[in-house]
Amino acid sequence: MNRRIVVSGGGTGIGRAIAASFARAGDHVTIVGRRADVLEKVAAEYETVTAVAADLTVPADVERVAATLDSVDVVVNNAGGAVYDGPLSTLADHAAAWRAELDANVLTAALLTTALLPKVTRPGGRVILMSSVAAVKGGGVYGAAKAALHGWAYSLATRLGPEGITVNVVAPGYVAETEFFGDRMSPEFHESRVRQTLVGRGGVPDDIAATVDHLASPAAGYITGQIIHVNGGSVLGR
Ligand SMILES: NC(=O)c1ccc[n+]([C@@H]2O[C@H](COP(=O)([O-])OP(=O)(O)OC[C@H]3O[C@@H](n4cnc5c(N)ncnc54)[C@H](OP(=O)(O)O)[C@@H]3O)[C@@H](O)[C@H]2O)c1
Repeated sequence: MNRRIVVSGGGTGIGRAIAASFARAGDHVTIVGRRADVLEKVAAEYETVTAVAADLTVPADVERVAATLDSVDVVVNNAGGAVYDGPLSTLADHAAAWRAELDANVLTAALLTTALLPKVTRPGGRVILMSSVAAVKGGGVYGAAKAALHGWAYSLATRLGPEGITVNVVAPGYVAETEFFGDRMSPEFHESRVRQTLVGRGGVPDDIAATVDHLASPAAGYITGQIIHVNGGSVLGR
């Protein structure tokens, strides 16, 4: 469709599936992450994907990403994860855990969106934030960080609606085939997560990409300020 798209965390897992889906539709996609080699592999697969290595918790890096773009139609803030695996013995450890989760999941989205906003298409632009089922059913500090995105999305949607930009949050449940779970992933872990769903399977990155595709499309112009849950029925009625 020849749109300009930015996908953070576009080198792996859910972000990679989102970037690939846009690229297959003929859009120009900039993928951002810290590991240049991981991003370059994706860019090598798709003619219209460009890799920009950056740590989105670092303002100067985010400014460098924004400087590569003249205009943006869709910003997909997907980078994040449950990142803290240090000790939790002292209060200083707890402070480190909170800072790590807020940096990875909130600051990455806040800085990238803020830097790109002046370049987002008006009307018709889209801002999408990646939350988690953990934000609504509980999920420790990580869940709290994801929940922070919801409140911010509501105020962004309110501010940007009159300018023709929609802002929505996608909240995935369990999604396999990503780097999210690291060493915790095992056949038993996978099965335990599948049992929590009503559809009897784990999610895959393309499940989330399909929802992002819709939110980015002209057909979704009447959806804004919403949390869209994609979780196979593991949490109901949200
Ligand atoms: N998988 C699930 O079950 C699940 C469920 C609910 C929500 N989510 C959310 O979905 C999103 C995608 O996760 P995933 O499951 O696809 O896991 P993933 O494969 O670990 O993807 C996370 C991506 O974010 C990038 N990233 C992390 N910190 C960054 C930073 N400071 N600057 C730039 N890029 C950064 C990583 O790349 P680098 O390491 O190279 O920077 C990586 O590509 C995350 O926000 C996650 O919280 C996942």
